[in-house]
Amino acid sequence: MSVMKNFLNVILILCVCLNWCFTEGVAEKKESGKVDSYTFQVSSLFPSSSSCVLSSKASNTKSSLRVVHMHGACSHLSSNKDASLDHEEILRHDQARVESIRSKLSKNNADGVSMTKSTKLPAKSGITLGSGNYIVTIGIGTPKHDISLAFDTGSDLTWTQCKPCLGSCYSQKEPIFNPSSSSSYHNVSCSSPVCKNGTTCLDSNCVYGIVYGDNSFTRGFFAKERFTLTNSDVLDNVYFGCGEYNQGLFFRTAGILGLGRGKLSLPSQTATTYNNIFSYCLPSSASNTGHLTFGSAGIVSKSVKFTPVYSFRSSPHYGIKIVGISVGDKELEITPASFSTNGAIIDSGTVITRLPTKVYAELRTVFKEKMSRYKATSGRGIFDTCYDFTGLDTMRIPKIAFSLGGGTVVELDKIGMVLYPFTRSQVCLAFAGDDDHIPAIFGNVQQKTMEIVYDVAGGRLGFAPNGCS
Ligand SMILES: *[C@@H]1O[C@H](CO)[C@@H](O)[C@H](O)[C@H]1NC(C)=O
Ligand SMILES: *[C@@H]1O[C@H](CO)[C@@H](O)[C@H](O)[C@H]1NC(C)=O
Repeated sequence: MSVMKNFLNVILILCVCLNWCFTEGVAEKKESGKVDSYTFQVSSLFPSSSSCVLSSKASNTKSSLRVVHMHGACSHLSSNKDASLDHEEILRHDQARVESIRSKLSKNNADGVSMTKSTKLPAKSGITLGSGNYIVTIGIGTPKHDISLAFDTGSDLTWTQCKPCLGSCYSQKEPIFNPSSSSSYHNVSCSSPVCKNGTTCLDSNCVYGIVYGDNSFTRGFFAKERFTLTNSDVLDNVYFGCGEYNQGLFFRTAGILGLGRGKLSLPSQTATTYNNIFSYCLPSSASNTGHLTFGSAGIVSKSVKFTPVYSFRSSPHYGIKIVGISVGDKELEITPASFSTNGAIIDSGTVITRLPTKVYAELRTVFKEKMSRYKATSGRGIFDTCYDFTGLDTMRIPKIAFSLGGGTVVELDKIGMVLYPFTRSQVCLAFAGDDDHIPAIFGNVQQKTMEIVYDVAGGRLGFAPNGCS
């Protein structure tokens, strides 16, 4: 009897192991052929990762930059090489970003870039800035000076801290860019058409200012410079902000790479070179790498499914339409009214997807039903639905899928797109409800490992699975 039991156990272990050699998750199919749930190894939530695993994609694709998580083993900005993320800090930062989006949209302070005199710079310091969690390293100036920037689909103007830091600079990991040692740097004059709306001038030079909703800010010269994305992608006369007065907690990055919809964003400025198309893949964990690719090289042929993208109240954000959400075999009751008041955006810098309170409540109810076999545990921060997986090897979670405008369905088929792991004994549903004064935000946890194509010129946004590998 016990021999038989052992034999079965061995078979079981072998099966689990074999599955794992080939796929990350095992889809459970119903008779209809539809996938309703996935089985994952609990350990896959916690990559054993003091070292960085490089994806080959960025180096193989033209016009492609390597993307890393700010706080992980792949980031040279991180001092914390054991890759144990400071979740509280990440989540506090995330809430600050959501507040910032709310504040920008409600003030109708359009793109958050203001060149007017009325820009008041607050004097408080040590405030967090919701600038996103993923960074790329680019070269600026001649000779090229490398800087790591948080890339942000919610910002237009790219900026970096500049010497001599006339006002003040926060502490960054790399040396601060010094425009006076670059031969390709040019101040933009106040008489220039791009500075037309800018009434702030200093020695007849155009001055920009960006104030974030959480009171972080950057201010300095609006300038032109050479940007080196890759050896073969050198862009001259890119407008950017040379920040001489910067405050906030930018996690030691040198500034922000603006990927928004506005005229001053990098994709808009380089439209003649890259057709206003870019794509990225955010890595599955902080110890893997992804990519940010300019131009259409990142479009993986037929597997990309497109949805229309909309301008969002003249902000830099990319608006999308969420028309349905399913959890396992159950469709949530989403009516056109569920999202209509504030709409929805996709954002590279928001971590956790925010849904209108009612929609989130329904998602949670169905998810809990499907997860009833697991031990529930206490919530944490914005999370109210958490599980204790201690002692379990595998878990089965219902498939969550978003239906977007144009009939595109985005399936969250990786465990890390649905659950946020603190410890084995506290793994939480990675969604949150927020009151109705912000748009719904499709956050970066839910975007991980997908190739996401921003075809701005074509007015569409594309999704394909497995974009990083
Ligand atoms: C840009 O303007 C600032 C402020 O007037 C000045 O200090 C700096 O030398 C100028 N840089 C160039 C390259 O003209
Ligand atoms: C200046 O502002 C006007 C009105 O707000 C706008 O139409 C125009 O495009 C702006 N010019 C620039 C160069 O941004």
